[in-house]
Amino acid sequence: MLSSIQAKINPDNPWKERIQYFETITSTNDVLKSMAKEGAEHGTVLIANQQTGGRGRLGRSFLSPSDVGIYMSVLLRPNCVPAELMHLTCAAAQAACSAIECSAGISPGIKWTNDIVFQEKKLAGILTEMSLNQDQTVAYAIIGIGINCCQSELDFPEEIRGFAGSLSMVSGKNIDRAAVAAAMVDAFYQMDKMLLSDRDSIMESYCHKCITLGQYISIVRGDDIQHGKALSVRDDGALIVEYDDGHVSAVNSGEVSIRGMYHYV
Ligand code: BTN
Repeated sequence: MLSSIQAKINPDNPWKERIQYFETITSTNDVLKSMAKEGAEHGTVLIANQQTGGRGRLGRSFLSPSDVGIYMSVLLRPNCVPAELMHLTCAAAQAACSAIECSAGISPGIKWTNDIVFQEKKLAGILTEMSLNQDQTVAYAIIGIGINCCQSELDFPEEIRGFAGSLSMVSGKNIDRAAVAAAMVDAFYQMDKMLLSDRDSIMESYCHKCITLGQYISIVRGDDIQHGKALSVRDDGALIVEYDDGHVSAVNSGEVSIRGMYHYV
């Protein structure tokens, strides 16, 4: 698998030589975190066929069965403070959409903040994590992405069957997982080159893809559920919501889950 992935990566992409492939791993994010603490270099990429302890947002687990998905983490060491990197998750989602367009021929949208969706089905999820130095600069950031590639509907557990989809299900085509992985590595490499210098254009592209905007949504914080309209996404990735009582405020992705009122997205 590793050589098929590498063969499909742009020859000018130096990250190509920094990929490690695992048949089974606990979590690519967790293992990459340990490697980062030991000094792994910027652009190190871990890709797995299966995870036994895949993690999702908000402390959830991420089901990661073998032979049907791609589970990948990328290590970045940007020279900046965390405030300059608040848009990382949005940038990663935007890059993931481009990679899916190139490798699967469909044009997915983004459910704020970082679910990649197509026709109401979640195709991929992203988990970004950051660690700081003692002087409060960024030591490293990890982008983790899990992509459903080849599942059929019945492969998903019943409780998520209505909301989950795979690239092959929604495109109606056979999906080459190596091509998807290679396109992701190329897209994240391109994203990294403009991450700090081009935040405005990244966020503009993100907003074009963000299907949450303009929708009436539920904002779920534990047991508390509020309703409002998603107006815009701020430069730091926060969602600006107009609540039913008329007040407008920003919602931060770390603390809430968003549900469409009438549809999944
Ligand atoms: C979500 O949808 O809540 C985010 C899911 C992120 C899953 C990916 S799979 C690769 C990487 N390793 C993990 O343990 N999680 C991320």
